Amino acid sequence: MKVLAIVGSPRRENTYKLVEAVAEALAKKKNVETELLHLVDFNVKHCSGCSDFCEKTGECSIQDDMQKLYPKLREADVFIVGTPTYYWNVTGLVKNFIDRTNPLYHTGSLEGKIGAAVAVSEEDGQELALSAISSFFELQKVKQVGGIAIARGDKPVGEAELEMAKTLGERIASKLA
Ligand SMILES: Cc1cc2nc3c(=O)[nH]c(=O)nc-3n(C[C@H](O)[C@H](O)[C@H](O)COP(=O)(O)O)c2cc1C
Repeated sequence: MKVLAIVGSPRRENTYKLVEAVAEALAKKKNVETELLHLVDFNVKHCSGCSDFCEKTGECSIQDDMQKLYPKLREADVFIVGTPTYYWNVTGLVKNFIDRTNPLYHTGSLEGKIGAAVAVSEEDGQELALSAISSFFELQKVKQVGGIAIARGDKPVGEAELEMAKTLGERIASKLA
């Protein structure tokens, strides 16, 4: 079983730590291999809206680092997608990534895989950010097994939040064969 843990914050702070904690809990299960992708390390351009290339070919015409991510996404069994809340939504990093999965939508490549979302904010909008990821899963027919939305004030995530992330990881693990 392959788990892709996708971090949509430009920082290695709250979202990174939470997604990492979900992945670590999952990695305790036998035969589970996890890979953490920090989206900021990849050059992923925005979708150009050409519409028909990916529909006709199942591929994206843009030659950037997303081409390295497509095989990983096709091979993965589980996705954890985490985002900080930016203006009551996901970050641009996450939105670009979501839009660029459109070739996989046309080929149905993500259907039936398992997904879980993580969203963190300072004070509000985290549920909306979570819901944006949830809509992505829904449209790509990824089976959702839960998510966590956390408001942290201006404090870094602590033990209680990391415990929630661990519980989410264990919950996902319990759904795997
Ligand atoms: C551009 C920007 C927009 C933000 N918008 C919101 C917001 O709408 N609501 C909120 O509560 N916090 C907002 N925040 C705060 C972040 O969501 C919060 O600091 C989060 O914990 C950062 O996650 P990270 O540590 O993973 O980067 C915003 C921060 C930035 C930089």
